[in-house]
Formats: sequence, structure tokens, C-alpha cells
Amino acid sequence: MSTQVLHTRYGLLYTVYMEVPLHPKSIVVLDYGGQYAHLIASRIRRFGVFTEIREPEVSAAVLKDAAGIILSGGPQSVYDLGSPQADPAIFQLGIPVLGICYGLQWMAHVLGGEVKQGKVKEYGHTLIRTVEGGGRLLSDCGESCTVWMSHGDEAVSLPEGFKLIATSDACKNAAFADEDRNFYAIQFHPEVTHTEHGVDILRRFTELCHAAPWSIKSYADEVAKQIQQEVGDKKVFMLVSGGVDSSVAFTLLNKVLGPDRVQGLLVDTGLMRKDEVQLVKDAFDALGITNLRTEDASEEFFANLKEVYDPEEKRRIIGETFLSVQKRVSEKMGLSMEDGWMLGQGTIYPDTIETGATKHADKIKTHHNRVEAVQKMIDEGLVIEPLKDLYKDEVRRLGEELGLPHDFVWRHPFPGPGLGVRILCGAEPSLPGDEYPLDFPHAALPVQSVGVQGDGRSYRHALALFSDEPTVITEEMRTLATSIPNATPLYNRVLLCTSQADLPSFSFTPGYITQERADLLREADAIVDEEMKSAGLYKEIWQFPVVLLPFGTNGGESVVLRPIASTDAMSASAVALPSPVLKKMTERIIQLDGIDLVFVDLTNKPPGTIEWE
Ligand code: XMP
Repeated sequence: MSTQVLHTRYGLLYTVYMEVPLHPKSIVVLDYGGQYAHLIASRIRRFGVFTEIREPEVSAAVLKDAAGIILSGGPQSVYDLGSPQADPAIFQLGIPVLGICYGLQWMAHVLGGEVKQGKVKEYGHTLIRTVEGGGRLLSDCGESCTVWMSHGDEAVSLPEGFKLIATSDACKNAAFADEDRNFYAIQFHPEVTHTEHGVDILRRFTELCHAAPWSIKSYADEVAKQIQQEVGDKKVFMLVSGGVDSSVAFTLLNKVLGPDRVQGLLVDTGLMRKDEVQLVKDAFDALGITNLRTEDASEEFFANLKEVYDPEEKRRIIGETFLSVQKRVSEKMGLSMEDGWMLGQGTIYPDTIETGATKHADKIKTHHNRVEAVQKMIDEGLVIEPLKDLYKDEVRRLGEELGLPHDFVWRHPFPGPGLGVRILCGAEPSLPGDEYPLDFPHAALPVQSVGVQGDGRSYRHALALFSDEPTVITEEMRTLATSIPNATPLYNRVLLCTSQADLPSFSFTPGYITQERADLLREADAIVDEEMKSAGLYKEIWQFPVVLLPFGTNGGESVVLRPIASTDAMSASAVALPSPVLKKMTERIIQLDGIDLVFVDLTNKPPGTIEWE
């Protein structure tokens, strides 16, 4: 088995299994480095077909068992040195192939067409017109439809055997097909919601592949066999974080291996939400799962995080403290690796395969399931990750299938390091060096946060707007939230102060993570959760981080509300909360002892990220 280790956005070491046999008759997405491989793969799974993401260089010998191959989009030109190349022998396999964007260009290039630098760099919504009904692939698209394009190069002549199926003003050969060989190529992205009929296009291709049927139920049976095989006569010790993924993994392991061969440990890090430990215990109790021990390690976490200000360092310390608590408790319980215990983790598919676009990006975040010590154990075969092939919505459905309560498995995502990444720390105030000319009452906040621009990450200041109606989010404010980060390198976020109309002068209190700050944020977070639910907004909002900032007006702190809408966390838009909801949340939070200011974050992702660090 040949493997390749990649460095990624999160600074993780991912092992990509190049020559591992495929799940038979699945659809394989070759990752050409765009951000979209996971989107394509997860969309197609909803049609009841298994999908896998592989590196483009995987050999045709491995791909021969696939039902279909998708060459995904990517930012390169086929003429770039080192641009991704698939094995041309895939075209001899007799398997349907769909090339998207760069995938179209590579297909045209390799099969004898011609690719040239496009006249116009096309980016965004474009109208395509179908040719002769659009053939099998575009038969749902009518005479014309809007699609999402993002490309520079284009195919100027088609390979032999191909016919044009759609065209646009800026790109003559927008889609073409060789239906005899089941080869299809489209210059636009069917996987994004901006493309009208994008889902229909992917469904048509999936139908042509005749893949093996797949469902969460069939997966549960299949993974049960795999768990038995991987664990053999060992036993599994599992850290249950309180989140959905590890809870579902723990329940699954219990069902497959039985309670005598599984032991769970819930470490209270002091960075969990209010009453979360009890919520988790109750969910398991209802299923008769009692082999979960809880350990209050909050003091140890706070001690290790003392005077730590750097976000990446915080993540590292949280990950390592987890492991050292686990080691200590497991030793105390006599659960050593030498005695046949393995480590269980709730890692899911997107955590194990980061798509190529981010291979070369800076180290900003370390996933707690992939810190060095865990990676070493994975390499030694001492880790079992039964959800590693599933997307988040599939994990939730599996959880329900296993009997966990609906509301429990459909909780908003919550980061592994918990409130630790929502308590901003700083030893001293930081202000941008320059003024930004803006005809709207505003102030620069004395902290920085992470944002994302293009494929890179930014670490910049936030700018707060002040208004006479502080809980009313206007169109103008929302426009500023996009235009300001685009116009200046000073800011990557725009907020509205919801607790006062007047511009304050800020007081900065040096802060790292402490029990007191965590308790304060827990209270604010619980208020938000309660108000969001009572306003009937829980389903509409995808995630609602509440963030604590180490400055106020009177020696206290500030709270940022960060309600966002998203489908996959790769992009997100700020939700404009109705004014009465925002008002109620603000009024309750500002009454907390130690909170001086409340803000709502108006920034989309990009240019902001969902979390602040
Ligand atoms: P960003 O902030 O990158 O977040 O827009 C995208 C999604 O990832 C979650 N997130 C994390 N999850 N460990 C986690 O388990 C982390 O360190 C971490 N950082 C961000 C975030 O909550 C959002 O859903």
C-alpha cells in the first residue's frame, strides 16, 4: 500500500491512501485542488451512492472498480508546471467520466482537443444555452439556465467523438460530451447552489454510472463488520467530547462490540457549554449505555492555559491536555495499550481528507484529532475511527438510526477545543496602524481575528459600527461588511455594536483562558441558545458562536454574537437577526456582571471565518 502524507490548511498530517482498493462500484472524485471535491462527493451521496475522494494521480488499475469518475475543478492551467495529472488510462476503463472546470480542460487536452487561455477571466453567474437539448447530461436544463463559472482557460476545439451540448457568450465550448463512451465535460460548477439545475446534472451523471446502492443503513452493517475486523480481540477506549461525532461513534462502538469491550471517558475541560455534561449523560442513559466515566479536569486545563495568548498554541495545549488526561485516567483504570486497548475517535470524512486547494496554505489551525501524538498512534494501528467515511449529515442520520434523540444529534456544530477558541486572549491591546475613511460612526476594536481571503488566511482587526438604532441591522451595514474588508487590508470583520449608540473609549484587560472567563461566556452562550430556540430560529441558523473579547468600557469584557447560515462551513453568510431577537439577547447579556459591550458580527465567510480564531 502506498501512502502520501500531506500538509494542509490546518497544519495536519493527512495520510491519503493512494492505492487502497475502492469501495466497489462507488463514484470517485479526483481532487484537482479546488475547494469543491467534498461538495461534489457529499451531494452525490444524497442520491444513495457511495463516493470517495482520491488524489488525481491514483492509478487506473485502482479506479477500474469505480462506477464513475469525476475530475473536479481546480485553479491551475493544464499548461502549468506541476499541474495535476490523472492517469490517461482511465479513459480505457469503459467507465463514465465527468470533467468539471479544470477537469474539462484536462480531458480536452489529453483526448486531443485544444485548450487556450480564455479571452475573458469568467467568474460568477453566467447564462449558458443548451445545444440540441443538452444531451443526456443537461436534459433538465431547458434552453438556457444560469450557472456558476470560475475559469481563465477554455477548450477551443473538442476532442474527436465529442459534441457540443452547451455554450455561453464568453465560453463557446461550455459543455461537451461523447455519449457513446459516456464522457462528459462541463466548464461550470454543478455542485454549487448558484448553478440552476446543478443537482439535476449530478443526478443525471450518477444515473449513467449504475453505481451500487448505498445508504446509512447499509453503511451501518458494513462498518459493523469493519469494526469487528479492525478491533479483533482488543477493546476500545474512547474520549467522548460531548459533540455529535464522538457521541455517535461511541454509541456505534457500544452496539457493535458490546459494553464490556468499550469504555468511554468524558473529560470536562471546563470549556464546554452550560449543562453539556449532563445533557450527554442523559442521552446515553436513555439508551442504557452506562460505560461512560466523567472526569472533571477543568483545573488542569486552566492551569495549562495560564498566560497562553496565541490561538494555535491554545489549540495545541488543549489537544495535548486531552491526551494526558486520557492517559492518566486510562492508566488509573488499567486500560493500557499493552493490555489490548485501542483509542476510538469520532473523526469524520472531511477531517481526514482535506482537499488539495489547501495543501500549501499556512498553518493556522490544528485539528485536535490529528495532533502529533495521535498521528503516531494512527500510524501504529492503535486508533479506530468508525465514522471516518461519513459526512456530518450522515453522522447525524446514523445517530438517529442508533436511537440517539433527534434534537441531540441535530445540535449545531461545536468546535473540538470548545469555548477555548471563543475566548479571545491578549496581553496587550492591538490597534490598526491606520485610519479607515468611513462616513459612518465607527471604531477599530483593539483585538485581531482570523479571516479568509482567496486561499489564504488573514489575521486582522475588526471594525465596529455604531448606530442610533443599535439592534437594527440595515442593508447599508451589510453592504459595508462586504465592502470594507475588500477595500482595505486593515480589517477582515465588520460588527455592529448592539448595546449602545455612542462611541465608547475602550478599556483593555489582559486576558488568557480562566474559569471565570469561561463561566461568563457560558452564561452568555446559554442566553443566546435559549433566545434562539424560543424565537424558532435554531434550524434556520447553522451555527451560532458567541465570542468573548478581553476589552470593555469599564474594565469588563465584550461579547460578539456570530449567527451564520451555511451548508458546509466552507462558505457562510452572516444571519441578520430580527431586531426584537437581537434586542432581547443584548439586554440579557449586558446584564451579566463583567460584560460592558455586545456586538453582532455582520461579516460573511469569506472574508471572515466562522470562528474568531
Ligand atoms: P472556520 O472558523 O474555519 O470554521 O470558518 C469552520 C468550521 O470549523 C469549526 N472549527 C473547528 N472545529 N476544531 C474543530 O473541531 C477546531 O479547531 C475548529 N476551528 C473551527 C467551526 O466551528 C466551523 O463549524
